[in-house]
Amino acid sequence: MAVRKIVKMGHPQLMQPAREVVDLHDPQISSLLQDMQDSMLAYSGIGIAAPQIGYFVRVMMFGCDFNPRYPQMDPIPRTILINPTIEFLSQEMEEDWEGCLSVPGLRGLVPRFKHIRYQGYTETGHFLEREAEGFHARVVQHEYDHLDGILYPQRIKDMRCFGFEDELF
Ligand code: NI
Repeated sequence: MAVRKIVKMGHPQLMQPAREVVDLHDPQISSLLQDMQDSMLAYSGIGIAAPQIGYFVRVMMFGCDFNPRYPQMDPIPRTILINPTIEFLSQEMEEDWEGCLSVPGLRGLVPRFKHIRYQGYTETGHFLEREAEGFHARVVQHEYDHLDGILYPQRIKDMRCFGFEDELF
């Protein structure tokens, strides 16, 4: 068990695209995945991307049954994605509130595509492809953005809808 310190907004590495994983069976990947999972659980995240714990590779994970930070959300299958890709299945977007372990204490209203298909490799090296809508699609787009060096505040349209969660709600 290794809970890592979360890299926060302002760290220059969070603003850069992460590198592709070359060898899916690299033993360093399994220890990275363990640290990501331990850190995500320790901070009650519903998703985490490798750059958030200081590893600048294209690895992300997400999912949960119930999360006290998002009591209204639908369950999302626990998923690990290495070298993921996303395809938008319609141009339709919707706005909802997001938070991020790298932007503690804040929430923002973020537009995301409603319907996506995503692909990637799992921790066992198997290819995974899935369609997602709504909150599930939102979480995948949020984590994927981390791999491209994008944090959710960069996607907010109206900065009046960005603030501290104890003031907003
Ligand atoms: Ni995040």
